[in-house]
Order: sequence, then C-alpha cells, then structure tokens
Amino acid sequence: MKVLFSLLLVLFIASPILCAKVGKSNIPNAFNILKYGAKGDGHTDDSNAFLKAWKDVCSSTKGTPTLIVPAGKIFMTQPLTFQGPCKSRRMNVMIRGTITAPKNREHWKSDSNDHDSWITFSHISGLVVNGGGTLNGQGASWWDKNGSDRPTAVRFLGCDNLKHNSLTHLNSPKNHISITGCDGVLISNVKLIAPETSPNTDGVDISSSTKVFIEHSTISTGDDCVAINSGSKFINITNVKCGPGHGISIGSLGKNGEYATVENIYVAHITFTRTTNGARIKTWEGGSGYARKITYKNITLVGVKNPVIIDQQYNALQAIGKGVKISDVTFRNFRGTAKNKKAIELNCGSIGCTNIVLEEINIFGLNGERTSSSCKNAHVTSSSCNPTVTCIGK
Ligand SMILES: *[C@@H]1O[C@H](CO)[C@@H](O)[C@H](O)[C@H]1NC(C)=O
Ligand SMILES: *[C@@H]1O[C@H](CO)[C@@H](O)[C@H](O)[C@H]1NC(C)=O
Ligand SMILES: *[C@@H]1O[C@H](CO)[C@@H](O)[C@H](O)[C@H]1NC(C)=O
Repeated sequence: MKVLFSLLLVLFIASPILCAKVGKSNIPNAFNILKYGAKGDGHTDDSNAFLKAWKDVCSSTKGTPTLIVPAGKIFMTQPLTFQGPCKSRRMNVMIRGTITAPKNREHWKSDSNDHDSWITFSHISGLVVNGGGTLNGQGASWWDKNGSDRPTAVRFLGCDNLKHNSLTHLNSPKNHISITGCDGVLISNVKLIAPETSPNTDGVDISSSTKVFIEHSTISTGDDCVAINSGSKFINITNVKCGPGHGISIGSLGKNGEYATVENIYVAHITFTRTTNGARIKTWEGGSGYARKITYKNITLVGVKNPVIIDQQYNALQAIGKGVKISDVTFRNFRGTAKNKKAIELNCGSIGCTNIVLEEINIFGLNGERTSSSCKNAHVTSSSCNPTVTCIGK
C-alpha cells in the first residue's frame, strides 16, 4: 500500500513535466512543410509544398491547425497566397526557419499573380503567424525599378483577429507588411529591416482596418515606419523604435480628389532615430474627408529632420476650399533633437486645421541650439512648447 502510494505520488509530481515534454516536441495537429516535399535548400522552388500543406491546414477542423516551417532551413517560394476562409476558427503559421523570395527579380515567375505581393494571407480569421523566423523579400534587385510595379512582401487581406509576432522581415521590394480590410490585429515583437536608401520600403501600411495594435517592435527601413491610410480607425502604436525611415505617418490622404477618413489614432512611447519625419500628417489639397482624434505622445527624438509636421497641401493642386479636414490632434511630451532648424511645421490649407494641441514639447538642435516653427491656417493651443508656435486661434 505504501509502495503504491509512493508510486502514485511520484507519477502525480512527474506528470506535468512529462506532459510538457510531450507537448513541446509534438504540437497537436501540425503540418510540417518538409512532409509535403519542401527542400529548404534556399534555391529549389518550394511554393507547391506550401500550397499543398496549406490545403490540409485550412481544411482541418481539429484544435488549432499549425503549418510548420522548420528551423535551420531556407525555403524559396514564388509569390503565393494562403487562401481562406478555413474550417477552424484558429489557425497558426509557425515560421521557425527562413522563407525567401527569388533572389533576382528576373526569377520571379511572371505567371504568378501580378506581382502585387509576394506572400498573401487572404480572408483567414483567427490567424497567428509567429515562430521567431525570417521572411526575406530579396528587394535589392527591385529597388531601381519603378515603385508601382514592385510587390509588397507580406499582405494580410481581410484577416480578422490576426496576430503577427516574433518575426524578422528583411529587404522588401516595396512595403514590408500591408494590412487591408482587417478587424482586430496585433503586431508585436517584429523587426522590419531594409537599407535607409531603399525606395518605398514602408514598415507597416494600414488601410481600411479597425483595431490595429503595433507594439514592442523595431522598424528601420527606407520609408515610413508605419503609414496609416484611409479607412483606418482605432489604431494604437506603442513602444516602437523607428529609424532610419520616414516616421509614423497618417496619409497621404485624399489623392486624386478621393474621400478619405482616418480617426482615433494613438501613437505613444516611440523613439525616432535619425528619421526624416517624426509625427507626420499629410493630405492632398484636392481631396475630401477627415483625419481626426489623433494623439502622438511620449516621443523621443534623436536627430530627426522634421519632428512634427502637418502638411495639408501635400502636392497642392489649386483647389481652394477643398481638402481633407484635420482636427483634434494632440502632440504631447516630445523631447530630443532635430536636424532641421525648423522643428515644427503646421502647413494647413485654406480649409484650415482645428483644435491642434501642443504640450510639453522640448526640441533642440543637434548642438543644443534653439529651434523654430512655422504655422499656417491652424487653430493651435499650446503650453510649455519649445519652440513656440504662433498661429491663428488661441
Ligand atoms: C514611373 O512610371 C511612371 C508612369 O509609368 C512615370 O511617369 C515615371 O516617370 C516613372 N518613374 C521612374 C523613376 O522611372
Ligand atoms: C489604444 O488607445 C486608446 C487611446 O486612444 C486607449 O484608450 C486604449 O486603451 C488603447 N488600447 C490599448 C490596447 O493600448
Ligand atoms: C515613454 O516611452 C519610453 C519608450 O520610448 C518608455 O520607456 C517610458 O516608460 C514611457 N514613459 C511613460 C511615462 O509612459
């Protein structure tokens, strides 16, 4: 009896350890692309293995079907689409190794899509993409090509309740991640890296999406770290290190006379290092719609060219009295250094900007010298703002 009791006790204590061990080496309902014929040698085209595996993952109904891209290998793929909707309510793509685009743009298959993007996740809800691996867009051979013809590296289209975390994205031909028509997105602990000189290589582009959170990430590219475009609302961007790059931008909105809307944007706890802009809102003079309820807060600036910039006359047409309305914008607690003498520029068009608030701003030149501001057609309230801003309104 005593022996039996001891045995049971040992089993009882050991069982969680045993279970944890089994669970770790054996993810339930996993689909490893190696089992679908992927080579992972860095140059064989593994696209078909991905697509075959995805077919099984997407039609599986058990638990959380998981596509595994194993560590220690490089999988080359042509442009491909992971198409939903899928049977399960939760899906996981676990990228532990590296997925790479063809090295040279001549080797991108011309019959695959229209080069709009390299990897597309379309209409999959409850998707988690993670794993600690790398997505290499091999953009170098594209960067001398005209922007509109270059592909986005990773596109999420209509993916609700998406989580994208713990991944590194390198050298996209154009923007690294594009979020379109998604409701509920969390991007965290990602690194997006491309040379400062690479053209249009935005970090994350958001459009027509709601409740998008980006946090605890590093974005160093040749264009906007994050660009928030029309149809976006309830966007929170926090604890991001941005730079080099063009800053965290709203817009441009209202191009070609379009109606554009952006609202409830919260950007906080950001460090901009040697970026061309910090907080930027840009709208085209001929458009319509609004950008409102926008807060940039607790911002550290290290040698930023234009720390605060609103440009309501971006590529101005002669469209007097038209424009995208800009209102209820707060810039609070900015500190650090600007590369340009002019640290704040509020350049509003004839329709004006209303309720622009500047508080606790302390921006100096690279050698501690005073900075200046310019302001046109904006209703500004400011307190403890250095440089001071003088404009219409209080
Ligand atoms: C890109 O293409 C557009 C339209 O085809 C053209 O107007 C523009 O000059 C081109 N730019 C470059 C850098 O080739
Ligand atoms: C997002 O920002 C808003 C402020 O606009 C804040 O009230 C909310 O708590 C934030 N959400 C998260 C999850 O950080
Ligand atoms: C301000 O942002 C930094 C990160 O840039 C963060 O470490 C710090 O806690 C934030 N401060 C407040 C008061 O939120």
